[in-house]
Amino acid sequence: MCGIVGFIGAQEAAPILLDGLARLEYRGYDSAGIAIWSQEKGMEVVKAKGRLQVLSDMVDGGKALKGTVGLGHTRWATHGEPSDVNSHPQVSENGRFAVVHNGIIENYAEIREILQSKGVHFVSQTDTEVVAQLLEYYYRGDVMEALTKVLHRIEGAYALGILCADCPDRLIAARKDSPLILGYGDGFQMLASDVTAVIKYTREVCYLDDGEIAVLTRDGIEVLSHPYLLPVKKERHHVDWEISAAEKGGYEHFMFKEIMEQPKAFRDTISPRIQEGRVVLEDLHITAQQLREMDKLYIIACGSSYHVGMAAKYTLERLLHKSVEVTLASEFRYCEPIVTDKTMVLVISQSGETIDTLAALREAKRLGARVLSIVNVVGSTIARESHDVLYTWAGPEIAVATTKAYSTQLAVVYLVGLYFADLLGTIEKAEYDSIVAELTCIPDKIQTILDQKEQIQYFASIFFNHPSIFFIGRNIDYAVGMEGSLKLKEISYIHSEAYAAGELKHGTISLIEPGTLVVALASYGKLFEKLMSNVVEVKSRGADVLGVTTESRKETMAKTVDHVVAVPDTHPMLLPSLDVIPLQLFAYYVALMRGCDIDKPRNLAKSVTVE
Ligand code: G6P
Repeated sequence: MCGIVGFIGAQEAAPILLDGLARLEYRGYDSAGIAIWSQEKGMEVVKAKGRLQVLSDMVDGGKALKGTVGLGHTRWATHGEPSDVNSHPQVSENGRFAVVHNGIIENYAEIREILQSKGVHFVSQTDTEVVAQLLEYYYRGDVMEALTKVLHRIEGAYALGILCADCPDRLIAARKDSPLILGYGDGFQMLASDVTAVIKYTREVCYLDDGEIAVLTRDGIEVLSHPYLLPVKKERHHVDWEISAAEKGGYEHFMFKEIMEQPKAFRDTISPRIQEGRVVLEDLHITAQQLREMDKLYIIACGSSYHVGMAAKYTLERLLHKSVEVTLASEFRYCEPIVTDKTMVLVISQSGETIDTLAALREAKRLGARVLSIVNVVGSTIARESHDVLYTWAGPEIAVATTKAYSTQLAVVYLVGLYFADLLGTIEKAEYDSIVAELTCIPDKIQTILDQKEQIQYFASIFFNHPSIFFIGRNIDYAVGMEGSLKLKEISYIHSEAYAAGELKHGTISLIEPGTLVVALASYGKLFEKLMSNVVEVKSRGADVLGVTTESRKETMAKTVDHVVAVPDTHPMLLPSLDVIPLQLFAYYVALMRGCDIDKPRNLAKSVTVE
């Protein structure tokens, strides 16, 4: 949901801003813009509807804009359609303030009306313009004073970058509920929505917290608290991510690269946490006593992370003998959840910034729950606000459609399940040992499936023109089907639904007609026969069926379905980690054959920081 970047230093700012924006494009890509200040020309703002390339071409890769201080923005439209004028930076009427913003100013309409009644002329439909105009309105020669008043007046979520033509020796940033990091350099400083935009230049960063304001000059960064502008001492963090991890490295798409990286990502996530056959989670501070007293375990997440939660429910209930409720983060706050100080909440989020998930986390904490989160982005807000956090070591994930983050989230779920079950004494030693042993084999088994990608590519070539595709499964196969269906619709724009196979006959089967593609997941051995009955039901209505099962059942399934993909056999609990791989590849190849923009699907953004 919008990416922002700022630079102040001795080098030309525009090429650095464009480079940073390229790494933030996953956050939004319907328009982009930059503001640069120079002695000769003052404030220059260039912005354009469309991909970043349009802007880059307009300014000759940045060479056409001279100046060593500036701000950049890549947009995912909320208020006002994607257009040149609605792009950021938004500028105050007399051009003094340029503002980039990620988030939503909820009371913008009211402020806009008041300012208009005082003669302020607005040019865009954005909520952000209100910030620029209000800064101008309050400005009496002291930017910080004006900013404090603005922050007092606006409601909603924001990460703001501000450049004022009267004091171009500094950039100003403020944050509430939307991410913002600061990068410390030698003779330059940066601000950005996330670290990928700065790691080419500096690995020393700090994370701005809610209610903080940062003032960046060429010599350093000062962080102050709102509203009294008291200095805040910030902890610096060193970022280990290699810059190459955020680049395509010869692959045509980030999504494909990230699919192929899954064996490594999975291994990196589990290896340090399995020692001498035991799961060791040193970062966790949850005791056996707390687990025994736990009255309920909620899992809260959005999108694919929610689908991990669906699979986790089956796994954790089986291992812990406790009931687990999976809730969409956007629903949690409004369903009057029954939470006590004995409730535990497992929050799952790749970005650690999804606003719905963050809001649900805060609500759960307010109600007394203990929060454990599974997060990929180190230092993200969800990670920092949780009582305990377990990081997935997937590395930066750039493609909007998640793959390796999903896989590593599952890996952490297994580790948590085993660790908790051991603490609770709900698992036999033999079972524990066999799951741990099998867990370490998963990366190689994922690799085996990836090595047969051409087979999936072939299936994609048969089905890529189907208008509608159904995924059916039972139990964990159903959970994986939901992810397979989401992947497909996200990037190929084919209508798709995932159904619990047994539910099909209660309505949805009316949509099955000759030629409809049904992807039938039948890897969970216990329910294989039941699932096959549902397959026969759709086959009798003329459906084409692509089956996904394990090697040991491949031949049996092949007798009934049109095509079969087999994954290696494994412990039933770990099946989602294998089943999802052919579904990711299928979605990828279908989208490729349809000529879709795979890494940046229409209307989507990777980090959803608006409700
Ligand atoms: C967006 C992304 C999805 C992701 C979801 C939750 O919708 O496009 O891929 O699953 O947000 O994101 P999170 O970062 O919280 O896992």
